[in-house]
Amino acid sequence: MSTTRGLEGVVATSSSVSSIIDDVLTYQGFNIDDLAENASFEEVIFLLWNGRLPKKSELDQLTKDLAVNMQVPNEIFEYMKAYPIEKVHPMAALRTAVSQLALYDEEADEMNEEANKRKAVRLQAKIPAVVTGFSRIREGKTPIAPKESLSFAANFLYMLNGEEPDETSETAFNKALVLHADHELNASTFTARVCVATLSDIYSGITAAIGALKGPLHGGANERVMAMLSDIGSVDNVDSYIQKVFDNKEKIMGFGHRVYKNGDPRAKHLRDMSRRLTNITGESKWYDMSMKIEDIVTNEKGLLPNVDFYSASVYHSLGIDHDLFTPIFATSRVSGWLAHILEQYEDNRLIRPRAEYVGPDKQEYIPLEKR
Ligand code: ACO
Repeated sequence: MSTTRGLEGVVATSSSVSSIIDDVLTYQGFNIDDLAENASFEEVIFLLWNGRLPKKSELDQLTKDLAVNMQVPNEIFEYMKAYPIEKVHPMAALRTAVSQLALYDEEADEMNEEANKRKAVRLQAKIPAVVTGFSRIREGKTPIAPKESLSFAANFLYMLNGEEPDETSETAFNKALVLHADHELNASTFTARVCVATLSDIYSGITAAIGALKGPLHGGANERVMAMLSDIGSVDNVDSYIQKVFDNKEKIMGFGHRVYKNGDPRAKHLRDMSRRLTNITGESKWYDMSMKIEDIVTNEKGLLPNVDFYSASVYHSLGIDHDLFTPIFATSRVSGWLAHILEQYEDNRLIRPRAEYVGPDKQEYIPLEKR
């Protein structure tokens, strides 16, 4: 038996949800460049789940269904108040709360297709309320109920801040959601598919996926990018800081990718958004520092920025707490996870690879007293 470290290059399933071919990312065959410029996040959700763009009436229905299902059972917020809240990372809170949501869904273990689609809507809708509710509770504030009249993007920002966002913020946030929605067989999506391929339920699949996304080599990188930018502090410090990271043989968060070799196609959109938003906030130093880091890391290491690099300064410019960056990634990516879970159920086979055994051989049991 031979192994491929980290399953690099292994094609583990077929899927029609999204593809990365020659560094071009498409959702159901639609180039993300096109979707980022034109689509609402709700349209993208419909696309990922149904394989086609919605008609007006279908989009209206989904938008309404999402808005109507956003509110979470109050018990979820009561549990949050009992968490050791000052020590709990919002990704840990999200992972726990999504698992708890299953306890309040009477259809949680109902495995027919229609029930699974209804649960997909409920999960997609409730995750923003969980993330924003946790954020408010830890600040000693009351969670805010969503408004049915608002878009998904606007509702997130409204539930977070208690004020309806301006058009620039809503548009930027919508675009970030569109860009993070799906990404072929990334680590968290694979985790979700492995979980539900045992015929476990959707809530288990999403809980597992959140756990995988949380790690710094995956979705957790965006928060760490902002920590790095904050540590650097000004453009003048970039050179020495990055040199030190290179000398210590550490990784620069937000750079590199397992699949893309000539750059992550999402990064250019986020770079552009970062430039515009930091200009508006009068804090262009975040963009300037990011550009300088990109220049050095690309020239010296040949590494290119991934989706997490410029999303950090984008979210910061929208006034979002840094530890909410990865939960926002989850708020978007749950749409892709759900599409993959539904696809997995449609033509399921248990995912159970092998391991090459490299441990000791022919061991003999030694009784406890003789060891
Ligand atoms: N900074 C410095 N060196 C790096 C970086 C980086 N960000 N990324 C890769 N390298 C180097 C590695 O040290 C390694 O060098 P070596 O061959 O001399 O040992 C080589 O490039 C290959 O790197 P691997 O980690 O083996 O590449 P892999 O495909 O396994 O990992 C990953 C991809 C995890 C994205 C990696 O590039 C990384 O850790 N990046 C930083 C974390 C990050 O930004 N994650 C978000 C990814 S996008 C997403 O998940 C949403």
